Amino acid sequence: MPDIAFAKPAMPRSGTLVLPLHEADTPNIPWTGLAAEADAAAGGALSRALEAAGFKGRKGQATTLWSPGGGIAKVVAIGLGKAGDLTPQVAEAAGGAMVPALAKDREATVAADALPPAIAASLAMGALLRAWRFDRYRTKEKEEDKPKLERLAFATSDTTAAKQAFAPLRAVADGVFLTRELVSEPPNILHPVEFADRCKALEKLGVEVEILGPKDMKRLGFGALLGVSMGSAVEPRMVVMQWKGAPKARRGKPFAFIGKGVTFDTGGISIKPAGGMEDMKWDMAGAGTVVGLMAALAGRKAKADVVGIVGLVENMPSGTAQRPGDVVKSYSGQTIEVINTDAEGRLVLADLLWYCQERFAPRCMIDLATLTGAIIVALGHEHAGLFANDDDLAQRILAAAKVTGEGAWRMPLGEAYDKALRSEIADMKNVGGRPGGAVTAAQFIQRFVNTKDGPMPWAHLDIAGTAWTSKDHPTIPKGATAYGVRLLDRLVADWDEV
Ligand code: BES
Ligand code: MN
Ligand code: ZN
Repeated sequence: MPDIAFAKPAMPRSGTLVLPLHEADTPNIPWTGLAAEADAAAGGALSRALEAAGFKGRKGQATTLWSPGGGIAKVVAIGLGKAGDLTPQVAEAAGGAMVPALAKDREATVAADALPPAIAASLAMGALLRAWRFDRYRTKEKEEDKPKLERLAFATSDTTAAKQAFAPLRAVADGVFLTRELVSEPPNILHPVEFADRCKALEKLGVEVEILGPKDMKRLGFGALLGVSMGSAVEPRMVVMQWKGAPKARRGKPFAFIGKGVTFDTGGISIKPAGGMEDMKWDMAGAGTVVGLMAALAGRKAKADVVGIVGLVENMPSGTAQRPGDVVKSYSGQTIEVINTDAEGRLVLADLLWYCQERFAPRCMIDLATLTGAIIVALGHEHAGLFANDDDLAQRILAAAKVTGEGAWRMPLGEAYDKALRSEIADMKNVGGRPGGAVTAAQFIQRFVNTKDGPMPWAHLDIAGTAWTSKDHPTIPKGATAYGVRLLDRLVADWDEV
């Protein structure tokens, strides 16, 4: 991963020069600052070559010029689109777009001197997010195939302002990287015990971390979560993380984020087909997102009180595994007939949600889970499914999602769906049939939101379609996306830190 630096504008003596350029309102691209200087040094060869290459400065355009003259070895031109449309999000995408073009370079200087310092920071954020990769288990990669970029310097007229704008972004990027790493780890390495141990790293950032094991959860009466874990040779864990950053006047009612952490989901006795089962290593993405979010908030010293709770289990078939037909008693006291052991995420969340309310009486609860294949059928990979019992909370989540570019789409809840969960022998069954599978799953979770003693704003994000991507995006290399870290960081910032 490259070091990010901000420096006063000066023609670099070595390395590649990156030129973020606007799309012109007039036929010619506007050349200013370092870019103009470089073009002049090359006797106008840069502007001529870019024109010949059809580079117009459009969003997403990237063109490389080799030995263009003026003593420059390589120039990468990146389109920013029309100056009037420039937003932090556009700048991030442009920052991301430069990374593949710089894979073979050790250092590069980005001529961001004609742009506001906050935009320079967004370019840097985009580049950083795209440059991340997970190569822990590659031992035979050829030297020439490895990305070389060690240092990316952004020339800016105001280094102080750019650094200031970048500091919180850097903390959020580190949170995103922690999530991506957890989600990418193979399931033999990242089992529940190991996952919980890695949460301990948050203590360095000032987060209080508590780890509960099976004895604690048995004592509490977590029958739903423990039932899922029965078939596994590895003990389950629950991790409670607290960040206390609110100013005195606003202490108390925390935000609560709750994550499904199934470190591997075979389906259990209701076993999944073999094809693609390896994807179920990322069935802990909800939990991974909560941990990365806590790191982001603590890393930027968010002025808010936040609780993160993750339930960590492995869903395995074995002689000790839970059976279809079992009835378990959840921490809430409600009983559940387990019709399908593959509908395990909701069983984990049930106990976590109830515990969260009992212990913290939070201002709101948001859970994240790779919960259903049905949400992928409904929304594909472009939006997560958003379910909420509170319109204000739903609106805030949708607004934050717009800003960070993480798609979220509100889905319905209602009595009629809830009826599908009726059981003949227990308070409910854990599946509601194929129709509206993502909705009946959300409906199940809602039964563990306690609104008896007053309102409890709750939202559920089904991230089964958005936690992992099979293609590169401008700021997300293929693989684990860390969907939700930026969104929920934004939610907290816009709601409580203004
Ligand atoms: N972890 C899966 C959901 C999932 C599927 C996530 C595909 C990511 C990609 C979940 O535990 C599951 O198995 N859900 C079942 C529910 C069904 C048994 C009611 C499903 O969606 O098939
Ligand atoms: Mn499952
Ligand atoms: Zn699952």
